Amino acid sequence: MSDKLYIFDTTLRDGEQVPGCQLNTVEKIEVAKQLEKLGVDVIEAGFPVSSPGDFNSVIEISKAVTWPTICALTRAVEKDIDVAVESLQYARHKRIHTGIGTSDSHIKYKFNATREEIIERAVAAVKYAKRHVEDVEFYAEDAGRTENEYLARVVEAVIKAGATVVNIPDTTGYCLPSEYGEKIKYLMEHVDGIDKAIISTHCHNDLGMATANTLSGVLNGARQVEVTVNGIGERAGNTSLEEIAMILKCHRDIDIETNINTSKIYPTSRMISSLMNMPVQPNKAIVGRNAFAHSSGIHQDGVLKNVDTYEIIDPKDIGLDENSIVLTARSGRAALKYRLSTLGIELDGSKLDGVYEKFLKLADRKKEIHDDDILMLVGADTAEN
Ligand code: KIV
Ligand code: ZN
Repeated sequence: MSDKLYIFDTTLRDGEQVPGCQLNTVEKIEVAKQLEKLGVDVIEAGFPVSSPGDFNSVIEISKAVTWPTICALTRAVEKDIDVAVESLQYARHKRIHTGIGTSDSHIKYKFNATREEIIERAVAAVKYAKRHVEDVEFYAEDAGRTENEYLARVVEAVIKAGATVVNIPDTTGYCLPSEYGEKIKYLMEHVDGIDKAIISTHCHNDLGMATANTLSGVLNGARQVEVTVNGIGERAGNTSLEEIAMILKCHRDIDIETNINTSKIYPTSRMISSLMNMPVQPNKAIVGRNAFAHSSGIHQDGVLKNVDTYEIIDPKDIGLDENSIVLTARSGRAALKYRLSTLGIELDGSKLDGVYEKFLKLADRKKEIHDDDILMLVGADTAEN
């Protein structure tokens, strides 16, 4: 039987922290319901102590969704945990996500503390949260830049204190995939009691390696991934949910399953982009406008013969009706003939050649040729002959 990978969505917490992406409570409920349809296992609904708005959103999201676990973020501070517990009172399945920085940089500059003091504070926070909630996740902030031996001591201590999930964030997006994978492997091999908790990845995209790092973590034993829709999040963003879900769907050999209903990926991406006013870059993997658009003549010819030539994902798998053949000056006769046939016009031989010649001239002037242009070209050709 294949292993299950838990999908922890933090679009409404790490994603929503992005300037300009703030949502009101009604919008957050709409997103949470969509995430439930998408099949995420955990929704990180907010950081309740940060504002009354965030507190209220966690309350309302808890009432609105049924299946996913609702998670609230806290620092390793009792007041934060108290507020988070209150905000989760209506959640059917609830989780507190508490933690503290563990890298030498965080220990020195943020906390002016020692490594031992950080372990004490981490353990105290987990024990305190555990008095109120069974499911407690601990994050070792900046674990990506935390020395492995010390990190293993922190992880062992919080598991002993009752943490059910331990999150290993590459907060600054610094790690190389091999390094991040080694880190997870090191923890799997050196932490006593590691089998009592799930190890989670949480990767940022500062160097464009968030997805690769997350995958490397999974291949080395992590069984929860923290992701956002469209990869939105602090600075360059977080690992994108759709990339991880589709990597695992395409690479069956990895033999790890998620609960994601991939046909909801595209509608969810559109919803997040429009509610958060955050355009998706056209060449974004899986959900970008060009992700299924074939534009060169050679590719178009291949795809029209058999999609397998240049397509590794069926667009329907992510909820898109079909791929698109974009007509430009790089397109060949086959693509033009195909587009004409979708417009109900069958042309062959010299007729097709005549229209194709006119098409190339127009395409050299315009970037993209649309259906109206084609109908106009066919009309002009018929009038001439
Ligand atoms: O990137 C990070 O370290 C975080 C933690 C708060 C989990 O977002
Ligand atoms: Zn983060």
